[in-house]
Amino acid sequence: STAEITEPKIKIGIIGGTGLENSEFMLTQESVSVMTPYGEPSDTFTLGSIDGVEIVALARHGRKHEINPTNVNFRANLWAMKSLGVNMILASNASGSLREELPPGCLVIPTSFIDHTSQRPKTFYDGALGHTTGVCHIPCYPAYSEGLRSILHKCAKDINVPAYDGNIICIEGPRFSSRAESMMYRQWGADVINMTACPEVYLARELGILYAAVALVTDYDCWRVEDTEFVTVEHVKQVMIKNAINTTKLFANAVTEIKKNSKELLEEAALSEKIARAAVMC
Ligand code: ADE
Repeated sequence: STAEITEPKIKIGIIGGTGLENSEFMLTQESVSVMTPYGEPSDTFTLGSIDGVEIVALARHGRKHEINPTNVNFRANLWAMKSLGVNMILASNASGSLREELPPGCLVIPTSFIDHTSQRPKTFYDGALGHTTGVCHIPCYPAYSEGLRSILHKCAKDINVPAYDGNIICIEGPRFSSRAESMMYRQWGADVINMTACPEVYLARELGILYAAVALVTDYDCWRVEDTEFVTVEHVKQVMIKNAINTTKLFANAVTEIKKNSKELLEEAALSEKIARAAVMC
């Protein structure tokens, strides 16, 4: 009998944050529901393809945006992505700006994160019955995939949307920050602020999935002393309506670009899996 050698293949997960619930990624073709040892994901997964590359899309807060940031089952979302064969993820995060030079409408492609959440399960390796076993100390440098980040930068440039590198801080929410907090986060070196960057980024690392995100800047939070208007839900929604079309285009173009660079990215993905395996002490 002939043993078949299956070539590793790209399968891209798209996690749409606030504003992307109704993007074309969530609408097309076939949808599947997946159960996991960590419970139920945010919604059904949409299966599709762009340019011949398989795509799995998920609305992080559910298609109707009914799940608040604390209650998003990040572990189930990522476990399900992995079980569907996803090896690279592009995610979007509506975010506030902590820098004058990062105005609403621009994108930040995070290089690193500050995790300021307090109520979320942070590892698959929690010792609970039926969960994955061992003790895992996953490295978080680099936090985000450099290969995917450079593709997101290129695609942002192609559609003329300004994009920058920066550090993202993730707060627990659901409330926005106080002014004292906002000013402190600036001093900490955070450039953008949001409620869902963590634990998503490092749970992806525990599974060895390549991961990169775009932070869509919707507001200046509340640190600018000269401002008369500060972040509100209405404000975030309005900017997101405008940004959603750009992000959808950006992600679609990124899929094509990933395909062009598949050899390097599959190598990076293989390395990421190796790091995830090596992080477990048995
Ligand atoms: N999401 C969008 N804007 C935000 C802000 N200013 N703080 C936290 N999360 C946000």
